[in-house]
Amino acid sequence: MCGIIGYTGPLQARDVVLQGLRQLEYRGYDSAGMALLTDDGDFYLRKKVGQVSALEAVCEPGIPSHCGIGHTRWATHGGVTDANAHPHAVGKVILLHNGIIENYHTISRQFGFEGLATSETDTEVAAQLIDYYYGQTQDPYEAIRKAIHIIDGSYAFCILFTDIPGTIYAIRNVSPLVAATSDQGSFIASDVTALIPYTKRYFAVPEQHILTITEDAIRVETMEGEIIHPDMLEVTWDVEAAQKGGYPHFMLKEIHEQPEVFRKTVTPRLRDGLPNFDAEGIPDSIFEECKSIQVIACGTAMYAGMVGRAIIEMQLRIPVTVSIASEFRYDTPLIDESTLVIVVSQSGETIDTLAALRLAKECGAKVLSIVNVKGSTIARESDYVLYTHAGPEIAVASTKAYMVQLSVFYLIAARMMLVRGKNQEEVRAFISNLTAAADMIENALEQEETLRKQAEKMAFSKDAFYIGRGLDYAFSLEGALKLKEISYIHAEAYAAGELKHGTIALIEPGVPVIALATQDKIFNKTISNIREVKARGAYVILITKQGASVSDEVCDIHLEIPVEDDRFTVFPCAVLWQLLAYYTAYVKGFDMDKPRNLAKSVTVE
Ligand code: M6R
Repeated sequence: MCGIIGYTGPLQARDVVLQGLRQLEYRGYDSAGMALLTDDGDFYLRKKVGQVSALEAVCEPGIPSHCGIGHTRWATHGGVTDANAHPHAVGKVILLHNGIIENYHTISRQFGFEGLATSETDTEVAAQLIDYYYGQTQDPYEAIRKAIHIIDGSYAFCILFTDIPGTIYAIRNVSPLVAATSDQGSFIASDVTALIPYTKRYFAVPEQHILTITEDAIRVETMEGEIIHPDMLEVTWDVEAAQKGGYPHFMLKEIHEQPEVFRKTVTPRLRDGLPNFDAEGIPDSIFEECKSIQVIACGTAMYAGMVGRAIIEMQLRIPVTVSIASEFRYDTPLIDESTLVIVVSQSGETIDTLAALRLAKECGAKVLSIVNVKGSTIARESDYVLYTHAGPEIAVASTKAYMVQLSVFYLIAARMMLVRGKNQEEVRAFISNLTAAADMIENALEQEETLRKQAEKMAFSKDAFYIGRGLDYAFSLEGALKLKEISYIHAEAYAAGELKHGTIALIEPGVPVIALATQDKIFNKTISNIREVKARGAYVILITKQGASVSDEVCDIHLEIPVEDDRFTVFPCAVLWQLLAYYTAYVKGFDMDKPRNLAKSVTVE
């Protein structure tokens, strides 16, 4: 939520800031802005509603500056206007912010800033406060330290002082920041995608430390003035991974990357056909000793957890609860030392998930996280981490990250089967089905043209319904989310048997129903439910396993997936609904990489 970049060094600051903002745009795209300290001792500030391209149009090339900060906004406080765009300049301070200042109103009243603001944002008060203390102390470190003692909330701030050339100050609480120094200067950003054109070595900025960033060094100090040296991390992917590579959209590229990232996530964790987490230092005791499992996540990651629950309960008969992180964090959770908490997050920065993780630890639970971004806050704060190897996921709608989150849940289930006494051959067979899922994903990708044609048929529907029973219901939740977030069609997932208790009233001629019937045990029951919607005129897209016996009148189109074992049908099914959602948004002419009102990394409550 909001992307931040700061640069000081020998390169043209305008160009580095714009390049960084383009990389970070997926974090928010309501407006963009930049401030540069110019070589003649002045400053240059531009901000504009719209995407980074709108900002670029008003920032003429060749501005003589080697130090600057930039911001791409996802609006929280105050509408989408030029005035509310960041950075905000007050006196000698120019500041930008990712997060929410909870006590901004109180600060404004207490310090007499009311009526002086030029924007409706919570952020401007931070600029006012730091400028107020800078006026008193003439010391940037002291001014920031004093202001931070007063500010409550989440924040990542980058700050320029107009009379301190070539230097950026930064501090964060909860909201993420990474930083790096290379032979091309020093950088700070919301995430590493903005840094990789310049360096692969970086560090995660620790919370509540003040950074003084100059051309060839970054000083990191505690609030008590002690200098610390954070551990360096290394990006393992190349700059190309964060580019479109010939695809029209990141989302389509990421859908097509799924067989590869699936294999990268699963294969290194197999020894002699059995799951093994030794390299990650995950002790079997956490799987052996737990009496229950609590999964916590948001959005797509939470829906991966719903599938995880189904598969773990089915294989191990251990109770698994899945909680939405934003609810869990304010609950009085029923967990303790005997609970294994599994936290799932692509970004590793989702604020609700992070708060829920902290609460789970307070309750004494051990936390194992499934995270994509290396070194992210959730990864760092968990007791154990199983990284997914999806590489950078840029499209706001999650696809490949979901796929690898699922694969890690299946690996966990398999490891638990092993350590809880299931016979090795049974586990080997389970794993062999899992590894074969990569081919099924490839096979599903071959149905792209069929899905494109189906998307044309449903693109202008008002509603769509995803139905299924058992595991199929767990999968269909993600199918509905995918469609609604990028095509803006109202889509809901329902347990097929539940429709007749109310929702069937919404079925009218032509409404698309995506029906999943991949589970043998309940196949006939689901088909009966499909007949019920078909009888009311629904346009039914039916997905079954290959060879399922389905009579023509049940559906309008029948898609088959070549899977034998019911437990593994989610992998190809996910590809089908991802493609359906992608092409529906495509037909409607929407930007599926940057759907309206959304941002990739949700770092505000
Ligand atoms: O980074 P996280 O996995 O923690 O993000 C969780 C959700 O915000 C995310 O999955 C969101 O629902 C996506 N837009 C779904 O496509």
